[in-house]
Amino acid sequence: MKTLFTIIVPVFFIGFILNPGIQGNKSWQKSGSFYTAEARKVIDNKCYGCHSEQGKSKDAKDALLWDSLPNLSKGSQIGTLDHIIKVLKEKKMPPEGIVKKYPEMKLSPEETRILQSWAESRADSLLK
Ligand code: HEC
Repeated sequence: MKTLFTIIVPVFFIGFILNPGIQGNKSWQKSGSFYTAEARKVIDNKCYGCHSEQGKSKDAKDALLWDSLPNLSKGSQIGTLDHIIKVLKEKKMPPEGIVKKYPEMKLSPEETRILQSWAESRADSLLK
């Protein structure tokens, strides 16, 4: 009985560690190729906290949920991508208040470029 236990417990733990679905956000990882790796990194660092189920602001969640975006209708995806491009051009996101408090939240020009070109090519491929 003891040997069985020493085998089953490590196997269970290893399975737990190796199962990527258990760690992190499931649907975020399931979004597959919708987001490029570099766009996802910027979103994770600068946008995801507010625009995800864990976010505290209802307004932010109503405006955009990165996890749901790939599942919206084509028209809504294009509309949302359009809003994303607009806020990037106008430097409206992350909101001014949060950037004042946490200057590291500000998007660098490089990050803005990455997100904007991702959103534009996404919108383009939807319009084809
Ligand atoms: C501190 C929380 C916070 C962070 C971080 C944040 N947002 Fe927002 N976002 C909001 C809130 C609140 C709203 C809704 C109110 C508004 O439009 O200002 C919003 C609205 C939006 C909208 C809809 C705007 C519209 O005109 O319809 C888009 C698109 C958006 N955010 C994109 C982003 C992107 C891209 C990032 C990362 C670069 C980001 N947000 C980071 C809080 C946040």
